[in-house]
Amino acid sequence: MSRLQKHIVFTNTAIMIVPLLITIIASCLYIFISYTIFDTNITSDSIKNLTNIEYEFFKTDSNSFQKNSEFLLDKDFQQSLGSRLSSMNANAIILKNNNVIFSTKDYSPEDIDKCLDFAKHSFMKSTIYLNGTPFIIKIINETFSDNSPGNIILLAQIDKDVVASRNFIIFVIVTFFATFILTNLIFTYSFSNSILKPILRLKSAASEISCGNLAHEVIEEGQGEIRELCRSFEQMRLKLKESVYTQAKYDENRKMLVSSISHDLKTPITSIKGYVEGILDGVANSPEKVEKYLKTIYSKAVQVDSMIDDLLLHSKLDLKQMPFNFEQSDIYTFFRHCIEEIEPEMEKANIKIELKNLLPEHRFLVIDRAQIRRVVLNIMDNSKKYMNKENGIIEITLRETDSTIIVEIKDNGSGIPKGDMPHIFDKFYRADTARSTKAGSGLGLAIAKQIVEGHSGKIWCISKDNEGTSILFSLKKA
Ligand SMILES: Nc1ncnc2c1ncn2[C@@H]1O[C@H](COP(=O)(O)OP(=O)(O)O)[C@@H](O)[C@H]1O
Ligand SMILES: [Mg+2]
Repeated sequence: MSRLQKHIVFTNTAIMIVPLLITIIASCLYIFISYTIFDTNITSDSIKNLTNIEYEFFKTDSNSFQKNSEFLLDKDFQQSLGSRLSSMNANAIILKNNNVIFSTKDYSPEDIDKCLDFAKHSFMKSTIYLNGTPFIIKIINETFSDNSPGNIILLAQIDKDVVASRNFIIFVIVTFFATFILTNLIFTYSFSNSILKPILRLKSAASEISCGNLAHEVIEEGQGEIRELCRSFEQMRLKLKESVYTQAKYDENRKMLVSSISHDLKTPITSIKGYVEGILDGVANSPEKVEKYLKTIYSKAVQVDSMIDDLLLHSKLDLKQMPFNFEQSDIYTFFRHCIEEIEPEMEKANIKIELKNLLPEHRFLVIDRAQIRRVVLNIMDNSKKYMNKENGIIEITLRETDSTIIVEIKDNGSGIPKGDMPHIFDKFYRADTARSTKAGSGLGLAIAKQIVEGHSGKIWCISKDNEGTSILFSLKKA
């Protein structure tokens, strides 16, 4: 049985049991108080006595429905009524036009008047005192065929125990219904609090979501399955919100990608177009000029080619379509080889490379050598490109922490303006100074970041405007 089912069964049972218990306890108290304080005995005999009288009176009343009123004059009816009542110490008086036409016992005209008067004024009450003695009274009104009024007065003498029993029964009935209604109200209220309210909240949250409002938080409340439902709903909302956010980010990224590519590719291609036109139109009118134009066209084409290479590599890494080929590698030897490869090109630009190894001994890392080589080349390529000193220096330092090897590549170039620093690893981001002076795709550091993160590492930068830049990255030790 689920918790919700248990809750419903419990509530329903309690709605029946609680009023019953309260009524029983109240009844016991009532009997006790009547006995000790008012000296009356509420016994099963007195209750039986009372029910007999009530039953007999009821039967007489229902008899009168079936026949016309002339039966009141019937001697047989009068006789049988009299004998039935005598067994329970009760009497009947039959009146026509306020005159007694039959009576099982003599009553004074004052008593009869009092009885008729009682019927007119005491609605719901049925105990009358005649000469200080209590009677249960019932008056049945009839009309004869000649339109004269007829009445049957039924009177049963009772003692104070029967009176108390009578009050007791009324008390029990009233107590039971009052507590029944009260417990019903209380349990319905708590039921609606724990089940209906959360469901109504969920309903309103669902309609908010259907209107596209995903900011409406669903509070976990209620019991059992309802609480779980709220939790799942909230999880669904968060997932939905996240996916909408990711979708929006993707859309924005795609738009930015398209506009950046078009812009960055257009610049070299426009100049290629210009130089080709110059040759075709004969503006380049000497072989030297033509050669110069062709060389420019070639360098621009190389630029476009490398931009497209960067773009392809970046999108492959982005789509995780570039499987890493991890190998155990000695980190110092790896960097020596990288430097040997790039040194001639750097020497041409008058840049010296220094390798500072602070590792206490040979350290091995599991890396994709080709990809980390790309990271190093991208960083050093920037150092060369943004070098503004006569004698350029690139210093590569290898050091370690407990869990990582940290590689720092430091140059003494132009440095990065403070405002650009947080963005240099974003794709297509290029500082304004770089954009206006040097060709590039703005993807070099974005690619480096993708590769380092693919190795579960981190990449960051430290730079001072016009003094130099350090790009650092960490690689996890195996
Ligand atoms: N060593 C550096 N010195 C000065 N600026 C740098 C350096 N490295 C990166 N930057 C800045 O970071 C930007 C992003 O670099 P990158 O992603 O390699 O793009 P690109 O080299 O194509 O401009 C560069 O445009 C430049 O402004
Ligand atoms: Mg670059």
